[in-house]
Amino acid sequence: MTTPNATLQIDGQTIELPTLKGALGPAVIDTRALGNQGYFTYDPGFLSTASCSSSITYIDGDAGLLYYRGYPIEQLAERSDFLETAYLLWNGELPNAGQKQEFDALVSHHSMLHDQMLSLFKGFRRDAHPMAVMVSILGAMAAFYPESSDVADPRQREISMFRLLAKVPTVAAWSYKYNKGEPFIYPRNDQGYAANFLHMLHATPCESYEPSPVLARALDRIFILHADHEQNASTSTVRMAGSSYANPFACIAAGTACLWGPLHGGANESVLAMLAQIGDAARIGEFVNRAKDKTSGFRLMGFGHRIYKNMDPRAAIMRQTCYEVLDELGLHDDPLFKMALKLEQIALEDDYFIKKKLYPNVDFYSGIVLRALGIPTSMFTAIFALARTAGWIAQWNEMIVSPGHKIARPRQLYTGPQRREFAPVNER
Ligand code: CMC
Repeated sequence: MTTPNATLQIDGQTIELPTLKGALGPAVIDTRALGNQGYFTYDPGFLSTASCSSSITYIDGDAGLLYYRGYPIEQLAERSDFLETAYLLWNGELPNAGQKQEFDALVSHHSMLHDQMLSLFKGFRRDAHPMAVMVSILGAMAAFYPESSDVADPRQREISMFRLLAKVPTVAAWSYKYNKGEPFIYPRNDQGYAANFLHMLHATPCESYEPSPVLARALDRIFILHADHEQNASTSTVRMAGSSYANPFACIAAGTACLWGPLHGGANESVLAMLAQIGDAARIGEFVNRAKDKTSGFRLMGFGHRIYKNMDPRAAIMRQTCYEVLDELGLHDDPLFKMALKLEQIALEDDYFIKKKLYPNVDFYSGIVLRALGIPTSMFTAIFALARTAGWIAQWNEMIVSPGHKIARPRQLYTGPQRREFAPVNER
Protein backbone atom coordinates (compact mmCIF):
# COMPACT_ATOMS: atom_id res chain seq x y z
CA MET A 1 0.00 0.00 0.00
CA THR A 2 1.45 3.44 -0.86
CA THR A 3 0.82 6.67 1.02
CA PRO A 4 1.71 10.32 0.18
CA ASN A 5 5.37 11.13 -0.39
CA ALA A 6 7.57 12.61 2.32
CA THR A 7 9.55 15.70 1.34
CA LEU A 8 13.15 16.20 2.42
CA GLN A 9 14.64 19.67 2.06
CA ILE A 10 18.41 19.74 2.18
CA ASP A 11 21.04 22.14 0.79
CA GLY A 12 18.44 23.93 -1.31
CA GLN A 13 17.30 20.63 -2.84
CA THR A 14 13.86 19.10 -2.43
CA ILE A 15 13.83 15.33 -2.46
CA GLU A 16 10.55 13.43 -2.67
CA LEU A 17 10.57 10.13 -0.83
CA PRO A 18 7.75 7.61 -1.11
CA THR A 19 6.19 6.32 2.10
CA LEU A 20 4.89 2.79 2.49
CA LYS A 21 2.21 1.54 4.85
CA GLY A 22 2.24 -2.00 6.15
CA ALA A 23 -0.76 -4.06 7.29
CA LEU A 24 -0.21 -2.81 10.86
CA GLY A 25 2.20 -0.39 12.51
CA PRO A 26 3.71 2.95 11.49
CA ALA A 27 4.31 3.97 7.88
CA VAL A 28 7.91 3.86 6.70
CA ILE A 29 9.77 6.39 4.57
CA ASP A 30 11.34 4.60 1.64
CA THR A 31 14.87 6.04 1.54
CA ARG A 32 16.30 3.59 -1.00
CA ALA A 33 16.76 6.25 -3.67
CA LEU A 34 18.58 8.68 -1.34
CA GLY A 35 22.00 7.11 -1.93
CA ASN A 36 21.86 8.09 -5.60
CA GLN A 37 21.29 11.69 -4.54
CA GLY A 38 24.43 11.78 -2.39
CA TYR A 39 22.95 11.12 1.06
CA PHE A 40 22.73 8.15 3.41
CA THR A 41 20.44 7.82 6.41
CA TYR A 42 22.23 7.41 9.76
CA ASP A 43 20.67 5.09 12.32
CA PRO A 44 23.18 3.03 14.34
CA GLY A 45 21.37 0.39 16.36
CA PHE A 46 18.46 0.57 13.87
CA LEU A 47 16.32 2.70 16.21
CA SER A 48 14.11 3.96 13.38
CA THR A 49 14.98 1.67 10.51
CA ALA A 50 12.81 -1.06 9.01
CA SER A 51 15.49 -3.35 7.55
CA CYS A 52 13.06 -5.44 5.50
CA SER A 53 9.38 -6.13 4.94
CA SER A 54 8.01 -9.25 6.60
CA SER A 55 4.63 -10.89 7.10
CA ILE A 56 5.67 -13.17 9.97
CA THR A 57 5.59 -11.36 13.32
CA TYR A 58 4.08 -8.08 14.46
CA ILE A 59 4.95 -6.21 17.65
CA ASP A 60 3.32 -3.09 19.04
CA GLY A 61 5.69 -2.18 21.85
CA ASP A 62 3.56 0.63 23.27
CA ALA A 63 0.45 -1.51 23.51
CA GLY A 64 2.40 -4.64 24.55
CA LEU A 65 1.15 -6.73 21.59
CA LEU A 66 2.89 -9.66 19.91
CA TYR A 67 1.30 -11.53 17.00
CA TYR A 68 2.66 -14.47 15.00
CA ARG A 69 1.01 -14.34 11.56
CA GLY A 70 -1.80 -12.30 13.12
CA TYR A 71 -2.46 -14.62 16.07
CA PRO A 72 -1.94 -13.02 19.52
CA ILE A 73 0.83 -14.71 21.49
CA GLU A 74 -1.55 -15.25 24.43
CA GLN A 75 -3.81 -17.47 22.28
CA LEU A 76 -0.92 -19.46 20.87
CA ALA A 77 0.68 -19.94 24.32
CA GLU A 78 -2.65 -21.12 25.72
CA ARG A 79 -4.03 -23.21 22.84
CA SER A 80 -1.27 -24.15 20.42
CA ASP A 81 1.93 -26.16 20.76
CA PHE A 82 5.44 -25.32 19.63
CA LEU A 83 5.52 -27.43 16.46
CA GLU A 84 2.15 -26.10 15.37
CA THR A 85 3.47 -22.59 16.02
CA ALA A 86 6.58 -23.37 13.95
CA TYR A 87 4.30 -24.60 11.11
CA LEU A 88 2.39 -21.32 11.37
CA LEU A 89 5.57 -19.23 11.26
CA TRP A 90 6.85 -21.10 8.21
CA ASN A 91 3.63 -21.40 6.24
CA GLY A 92 1.54 -18.43 7.29
CA GLU A 93 -1.49 -20.51 8.31
CA LEU A 94 -2.26 -22.98 11.06
CA PRO A 95 -2.15 -26.61 9.86
CA ASN A 96 -5.24 -28.78 9.57
CA ALA A 97 -5.19 -32.12 11.45
CA GLY A 98 -3.48 -34.03 8.59
CA GLN A 99 -0.88 -31.34 7.96
CA LYS A 100 -0.12 -31.14 11.67
CA GLN A 101 0.38 -34.88 11.94
CA GLU A 102 2.66 -34.93 8.91
CA PHE A 103 4.72 -31.96 10.14
CA ASP A 104 5.14 -33.39 13.66
CA ALA A 105 6.14 -36.79 12.25
CA LEU A 106 8.72 -35.28 9.89
CA VAL A 107 10.31 -33.28 12.70
CA SER A 108 10.39 -36.15 15.18
CA HIS A 109 11.83 -38.59 12.59
CA HIS A 110 14.83 -36.42 11.82
CA SER A 111 15.97 -35.74 15.36
CA MET A 112 19.13 -37.91 15.30
CA LEU A 113 22.48 -36.35 14.49
CA HIS A 114 24.90 -37.75 11.94
CA ASP A 115 26.93 -40.31 13.91
CA GLN A 116 30.24 -38.67 13.03
CA MET A 117 29.14 -35.56 14.90
CA LEU A 118 29.97 -37.42 18.10
CA SER A 119 33.64 -36.82 17.36
CA LEU A 120 33.00 -33.10 17.03
CA PHE A 121 31.38 -32.93 20.48
CA LYS A 122 34.25 -34.91 21.93
CA GLY A 123 36.78 -32.41 20.59
CA PHE A 124 35.58 -29.72 22.98
CA ARG A 125 36.88 -29.06 26.47
CA ARG A 126 34.50 -30.51 29.03
CA ASP A 127 33.80 -27.08 30.47
CA ALA A 128 32.87 -25.54 27.10
CA HIS A 129 29.81 -23.30 27.33
CA PRO A 130 26.83 -25.00 25.58
CA MET A 131 26.41 -21.93 23.35
CA ALA A 132 30.02 -22.21 22.14
CA VAL A 133 29.33 -25.85 21.28
CA MET A 134 26.00 -25.03 19.61
CA VAL A 135 27.50 -22.31 17.41
CA SER A 136 30.13 -24.78 16.20
CA ILE A 137 27.93 -27.84 15.74
CA LEU A 138 25.14 -25.96 13.96
CA GLY A 139 27.69 -24.40 11.61
CA ALA A 140 29.39 -27.76 11.09
CA MET A 141 26.13 -29.27 9.87
CA ALA A 142 26.83 -27.45 6.57
CA ALA A 143 29.73 -29.88 6.11
CA PHE A 144 27.49 -32.89 6.73
CA TYR A 145 24.79 -31.74 4.30
CA PRO A 146 26.73 -29.98 1.49
CA GLU A 147 23.71 -30.06 -0.84
CA SER A 148 22.08 -27.55 1.56
CA SER A 149 24.24 -24.80 0.04
CA ASP A 150 21.97 -24.84 -3.00
CA VAL A 151 19.64 -22.27 -1.46
CA ALA A 152 18.00 -21.49 -4.80
CA ASP A 153 16.40 -24.96 -4.75
CA PRO A 154 13.15 -24.85 -2.72
CA ARG A 155 13.39 -28.58 -1.96
CA GLN A 156 16.89 -28.19 -0.51
CA ARG A 157 15.72 -25.25 1.56
CA GLU A 158 12.80 -27.27 2.89
CA ILE A 159 15.03 -30.22 3.84
CA SER A 160 17.42 -27.88 5.68
CA MET A 161 14.53 -26.24 7.52
CA PHE A 162 13.29 -29.60 8.79
CA ARG A 163 16.79 -30.78 9.65
CA LEU A 164 17.43 -27.66 11.71
CA LEU A 165 14.15 -27.77 13.63
CA ALA A 166 14.39 -31.53 14.21
CA LYS A 167 18.02 -31.65 15.26
CA VAL A 168 18.50 -28.46 17.28
CA PRO A 169 17.09 -30.02 20.52
CA THR A 170 19.58 -32.88 20.18
CA VAL A 171 22.44 -30.44 19.58
CA ALA A 172 21.43 -28.42 22.67
CA ALA A 173 20.89 -31.46 24.91
CA TRP A 174 24.18 -33.06 23.88
CA SER A 175 26.09 -29.83 24.53
CA TYR A 176 24.86 -30.16 28.10
CA LYS A 177 25.49 -33.90 28.46
CA TYR A 178 29.04 -33.51 27.26
CA ASN A 179 29.65 -30.69 29.72
CA LYS A 180 28.22 -32.89 32.51
CA GLY A 181 30.37 -35.84 31.56
CA GLU A 182 27.34 -38.07 30.95
CA PRO A 183 26.70 -40.27 27.89
CA PHE A 184 24.68 -38.71 25.07
CA ILE A 185 21.03 -39.74 25.22
CA TYR A 186 19.38 -40.41 21.86
CA PRO A 187 16.07 -38.74 21.00
CA ARG A 188 12.77 -40.56 21.46
CA ASN A 189 10.49 -40.14 18.47
CA ASP A 190 7.44 -41.22 20.47
CA GLN A 191 7.69 -38.16 22.71
CA GLY A 192 6.50 -34.61 22.06
CA TYR A 193 9.11 -32.00 21.13
CA ALA A 194 9.54 -30.53 24.64
CA ALA A 195 9.16 -33.89 26.47
CA ASN A 196 11.81 -35.43 24.20
CA PHE A 197 14.17 -32.55 24.94
CA LEU A 198 13.71 -33.05 28.71
CA HIS A 199 14.34 -36.78 28.18
CA MET A 200 17.63 -36.09 26.35
CA LEU A 201 18.68 -33.72 29.15
CA HIS A 202 17.69 -35.72 32.18
CA ALA A 203 17.68 -39.45 31.29
CA THR A 204 20.83 -41.57 31.58
CA PRO A 205 21.45 -45.05 30.14
CA CYS A 206 20.68 -46.36 33.65
CA GLU A 207 17.56 -44.34 34.37
CA SER A 208 14.68 -43.20 32.19
CA TYR A 209 13.06 -39.82 32.66
CA GLU A 210 9.32 -39.28 32.24
CA PRO A 211 8.51 -35.57 32.52
CA SER A 212 5.15 -34.62 34.03
CA PRO A 213 2.80 -33.22 31.37
CA VAL A 214 2.65 -29.92 33.29
CA LEU A 215 6.42 -29.52 33.09
CA ALA A 216 6.64 -30.57 29.43
CA ARG A 217 3.83 -28.14 28.64
CA ALA A 218 5.61 -25.33 30.51
CA LEU A 219 8.76 -25.89 28.46
CA ASP A 220 6.73 -26.08 25.26
CA ARG A 221 5.21 -22.72 26.20
CA ILE A 222 8.70 -21.25 26.72
CA PHE A 223 9.52 -22.47 23.19
CA ILE A 224 6.37 -20.80 21.78
CA LEU A 225 7.13 -17.49 23.52
CA HIS A 226 10.67 -17.46 22.15
CA ALA A 227 9.89 -18.78 18.66
CA ASP A 228 10.07 -15.45 16.86
CA HIS A 229 10.37 -11.78 17.64
CA GLU A 230 10.45 -9.77 14.45
CA GLN A 231 13.78 -8.22 13.38
CA ASN A 232 15.71 -8.58 16.67
CA ALA A 233 19.53 -8.69 16.66
CA SER A 234 19.93 -12.44 16.07
CA THR A 235 17.19 -12.63 13.43
CA SER A 236 18.72 -9.67 11.63
CA THR A 237 22.06 -11.48 11.84
CA VAL A 238 20.54 -14.58 10.22
CA ARG A 239 19.04 -12.41 7.48
CA MET A 240 22.30 -10.49 7.01
CA ALA A 241 24.33 -13.71 6.72
CA GLY A 242 21.71 -15.32 4.49
CA SER A 243 21.50 -12.27 2.23
CA SER A 244 24.71 -13.42 0.52
CA TYR A 245 23.02 -16.83 -0.10
CA ALA A 246 25.31 -18.40 2.50
CA ASN A 247 24.63 -21.93 3.68
CA PRO A 248 21.55 -22.03 5.99
CA PHE A 249 23.32 -23.95 8.78
CA ALA A 250 26.07 -21.31 8.76
CA CYS A 251 23.40 -18.58 8.94
CA ILE A 252 21.71 -20.19 11.95
CA ALA A 253 25.13 -20.56 13.61
CA ALA A 254 25.62 -16.80 13.07
CA GLY A 255 22.24 -16.06 14.67
CA THR A 256 23.11 -18.32 17.59
CA ALA A 257 26.37 -16.43 18.12
CA CYS A 258 24.52 -13.11 18.22
CA LEU A 259 21.87 -14.45 20.60
CA TRP A 260 24.56 -15.49 23.09
CA GLY A 261 25.22 -11.90 24.26
CA PRO A 262 23.87 -10.77 27.66
CA LEU A 263 21.88 -7.92 26.09
CA HIS A 264 19.94 -10.45 24.01
CA GLY A 265 19.44 -14.17 24.73
CA GLY A 266 22.01 -14.28 27.51
CA ALA A 267 19.79 -12.15 29.73
CA ASN A 268 17.87 -15.05 31.34
CA GLU A 269 21.16 -16.49 32.54
CA SER A 270 22.17 -13.06 33.85
CA VAL A 271 18.84 -12.67 35.71
CA LEU A 272 19.56 -15.72 37.87
CA ALA A 273 23.15 -14.61 38.41
CA MET A 274 21.80 -11.22 39.51
CA LEU A 275 19.22 -12.74 41.88
CA ALA A 276 21.95 -14.93 43.39
CA GLN A 277 24.17 -11.86 43.75
CA ILE A 278 21.40 -9.93 45.52
CA GLY A 279 21.07 -12.93 47.80
CA ASP A 280 18.56 -11.45 50.22
CA ALA A 281 15.34 -9.46 49.69
CA ALA A 282 16.68 -6.88 52.16
CA ARG A 283 19.36 -5.92 49.60
CA ILE A 284 16.98 -5.30 46.68
CA GLY A 285 16.86 -1.53 47.31
CA GLU A 286 20.64 -1.36 47.16
CA PHE A 287 20.69 -3.10 43.75
CA VAL A 288 17.84 -0.99 42.38
CA ASN A 289 19.83 2.11 43.36
CA ARG A 290 22.91 0.72 41.63
CA ALA A 291 20.88 0.13 38.46
CA LYS A 292 19.79 3.79 38.54
CA ASP A 293 23.36 5.01 38.94
CA LYS A 294 24.86 5.37 35.46
CA THR A 295 28.42 5.25 36.81
CA SER A 296 27.89 1.79 38.34
CA GLY A 297 27.69 0.05 34.95
CA PHE A 298 25.04 -2.21 36.51
CA ARG A 299 21.60 -2.83 34.98
CA LEU A 300 18.65 -4.76 36.32
CA MET A 301 18.81 -7.81 34.09
CA GLY A 302 15.43 -8.89 32.73
CA PHE A 303 14.19 -5.30 32.70
CA GLY A 304 13.70 -3.05 29.71
CA HIS A 305 13.26 -3.75 26.04
CA ARG A 306 14.08 -1.90 22.85
CA ILE A 307 10.52 -2.30 21.58
CA TYR A 308 8.24 -2.92 24.58
CA LYS A 309 7.60 0.30 26.43
CA ASN A 310 4.78 -1.42 28.26
CA MET A 311 4.62 -4.89 29.81
CA ASP A 312 6.27 -7.49 27.55
CA PRO A 313 3.26 -9.75 26.83
CA ARG A 314 5.57 -12.78 27.00
CA ALA A 315 6.60 -11.80 30.54
CA ALA A 316 2.97 -11.86 31.72
CA ILE A 317 2.49 -15.39 30.33
CA MET A 318 5.83 -16.51 31.75
CA ARG A 319 4.92 -15.16 35.19
CA GLN A 320 1.75 -17.30 35.12
CA THR A 321 3.74 -20.33 33.93
CA CYS A 322 6.12 -19.74 36.80
CA TYR A 323 3.24 -20.13 39.28
CA GLU A 324 2.03 -23.32 37.52
CA VAL A 325 5.45 -24.96 37.52
CA LEU A 326 6.31 -24.04 41.10
CA ASP A 327 2.84 -25.33 42.16
CA GLU A 328 3.36 -28.63 40.33
CA LEU A 329 6.73 -29.07 42.01
CA GLY A 330 5.54 -27.88 45.42
CA LEU A 331 8.02 -25.02 45.36
CA HIS A 332 5.64 -22.14 46.22
CA ASP A 333 8.19 -20.88 48.69
CA ASP A 334 11.05 -20.86 46.20
CA PRO A 335 13.21 -18.05 47.62
CA LEU A 336 14.45 -16.93 44.21
CA PHE A 337 10.91 -16.59 42.86
CA LYS A 338 9.84 -14.65 45.95
CA MET A 339 12.81 -12.35 45.55
CA ALA A 340 12.03 -11.88 41.84
CA LEU A 341 8.44 -10.87 42.70
CA LYS A 342 9.68 -8.42 45.32
CA LEU A 343 12.23 -6.95 42.91
CA GLU A 344 9.57 -6.62 40.22
CA GLN A 345 7.26 -4.81 42.63
CA ILE A 346 9.93 -2.39 43.88
CA ALA A 347 11.17 -1.61 40.37
CA LEU A 348 7.67 -1.12 38.98
CA GLU A 349 6.95 1.46 41.69
CA ASP A 350 10.23 3.30 41.22
CA ASP A 351 10.19 6.64 39.40
CA TYR A 352 13.33 5.86 37.35
CA PHE A 353 11.82 2.66 35.92
CA ILE A 354 8.39 4.25 35.40
CA LYS A 355 9.82 7.28 33.56
CA LYS A 356 12.06 5.15 31.33
CA LYS A 357 9.24 2.63 30.76
CA LEU A 358 11.37 -0.26 31.95
CA TYR A 359 9.18 -3.30 32.57
CA PRO A 360 10.14 -6.91 33.18
CA ASN A 361 10.84 -8.72 29.92
CA VAL A 362 10.36 -12.42 29.09
CA ASP A 363 13.77 -13.32 30.50
CA PHE A 364 12.94 -12.07 33.94
CA TYR A 365 10.74 -15.12 34.63
CA SER A 366 11.90 -17.72 32.11
CA GLY A 367 15.10 -18.31 34.11
CA ILE A 368 13.12 -19.21 37.22
CA VAL A 369 10.90 -21.63 35.28
CA LEU A 370 13.89 -23.26 33.59
CA ARG A 371 15.68 -23.62 36.91
CA ALA A 372 12.58 -25.27 38.41
CA LEU A 373 12.59 -27.70 35.45
CA GLY A 374 16.05 -28.80 36.58
CA ILE A 375 17.78 -27.04 33.69
CA PRO A 376 21.16 -25.56 34.61
CA THR A 377 21.76 -21.86 34.10
CA SER A 378 24.40 -22.44 31.45
CA MET A 379 21.70 -24.01 29.23
CA PHE A 380 19.23 -21.10 29.36
CA THR A 381 20.46 -19.30 26.28
CA ALA A 382 20.80 -22.62 24.44
CA ILE A 383 17.08 -23.19 25.04
CA PHE A 384 16.30 -19.72 23.72
CA ALA A 385 18.39 -20.57 20.60
CA LEU A 386 16.57 -23.88 20.19
CA ALA A 387 13.18 -22.15 20.18
CA ARG A 388 14.26 -19.17 18.09
CA THR A 389 15.55 -21.53 15.40
CA ALA A 390 11.90 -21.90 14.28
CA GLY A 391 11.64 -18.15 13.69
CA TRP A 392 15.13 -17.73 12.25
CA ILE A 393 14.38 -20.34 9.60
CA ALA A 394 11.02 -18.77 8.74
CA GLN A 395 12.65 -15.34 8.38
CA TRP A 396 15.58 -16.74 6.37
CA ASN A 397 13.26 -18.49 3.95
CA GLU A 398 11.03 -15.42 3.61
CA MET A 399 14.10 -13.35 2.76
CA ILE A 400 15.41 -15.80 0.15
CA VAL A 401 12.12 -15.88 -1.74
CA SER A 402 11.36 -12.16 -1.47
CA PRO A 403 11.21 -10.47 -4.89
CA GLY A 404 14.04 -8.08 -5.71
CA HIS A 405 16.29 -9.62 -3.06
CA LYS A 406 19.57 -7.77 -2.45
CA ILE A 407 22.61 -8.60 -0.36
CA ALA A 408 22.54 -6.56 2.88
CA ARG A 409 25.23 -3.91 2.61
CA PRO A 410 24.84 -0.94 4.97
CA ARG A 411 26.86 2.25 4.44
CA GLN A 412 28.55 4.37 7.13
CA LEU A 413 29.33 7.84 8.38
CA TYR A 414 33.12 7.88 7.96
CA THR A 415 34.96 9.59 10.84
CA GLY A 416 38.59 8.55 10.13
CA PRO A 417 41.53 10.53 8.68
CA GLN A 418 41.40 12.26 5.32
CA ARG A 419 43.68 10.93 2.57
CA ARG A 420 47.38 11.01 3.62
CA GLU A 421 50.62 9.69 2.19
CA PHE A 422 52.47 6.61 3.39
CA ALA A 423 55.83 7.30 5.04
CA PRO A 424 58.59 4.67 5.31
CA VAL A 425 59.22 3.38 8.83
CA ASN A 426 62.47 5.36 9.34
CA GLU A 427 60.68 8.62 8.59
CA ARG A 428 57.85 8.15 11.13
N1 CMC B 1 18.36 -1.29 34.21
C1 CMC B 1 18.60 0.03 34.41
N2 CMC B 1 18.51 0.97 33.46
C2 CMC B 1 18.16 0.58 32.23
C3 CMC B 1 17.87 -0.78 31.94
C4 CMC B 1 17.98 -1.71 32.98
N3 CMC B 1 17.74 -3.01 32.76
N4 CMC B 1 17.54 -0.89 30.65
C5 CMC B 1 17.61 0.34 30.13
N5 CMC B 1 17.98 1.23 31.09
C6 CMC B 1 18.10 2.68 30.91
C7 CMC B 1 19.39 3.03 30.18
O1 CMC B 1 20.43 3.29 31.07
C8 CMC B 1 18.97 4.25 29.40
O2 CMC B 1 18.98 5.36 30.25
P1 CMC B 1 19.32 6.84 29.62
O3 CMC B 1 18.23 7.13 28.63
O4 CMC B 1 19.28 7.75 30.82
O5 CMC B 1 20.68 6.74 29.00
C9 CMC B 1 17.49 3.98 29.05
O6 CMC B 1 17.02 3.09 30.07
C10 CMC B 1 17.31 3.34 27.69
O7 CMC B 1 18.17 2.21 27.62
P2 CMC B 1 18.94 1.77 26.29
O8 CMC B 1 20.03 0.85 26.66
O9 CMC B 1 19.29 3.00 25.51
O10 CMC B 1 17.77 1.01 25.56
P3 CMC B 1 17.93 -0.07 24.41
O11 CMC B 1 16.63 -0.12 23.73
O12 CMC B 1 19.14 0.23 23.60
O13 CMC B 1 18.23 -1.42 25.20
C11 CMC B 1 17.95 -3.44 26.43
C12 CMC B 1 17.28 -2.39 25.50
C13 CMC B 1 17.05 -4.66 26.52
C14 CMC B 1 19.29 -3.87 25.82
C15 CMC B 1 18.17 -2.80 27.81
O14 CMC B 1 16.93 -2.44 28.37
C16 CMC B 1 18.94 -3.71 28.76
O15 CMC B 1 20.18 -3.69 28.76
N6 CMC B 1 18.21 -4.52 29.60
C17 CMC B 1 18.85 -5.49 30.44
C18 CMC B 1 19.21 -6.73 29.61
C19 CMC B 1 17.99 -7.57 29.26
O16 CMC B 1 17.13 -7.83 30.09
N7 CMC B 1 17.94 -8.01 28.00
C20 CMC B 1 16.88 -8.88 27.51
C21 CMC B 1 16.07 -8.25 26.43
S1 CMC B 1 14.55 -9.15 26.16
C22 CMC B 1 15.06 -10.58 25.36
C23 CMC B 1 15.32 -10.36 23.92
O17 CMC B 1 14.37 -10.05 23.18
O18 CMC B 1 16.48 -10.58 23.52
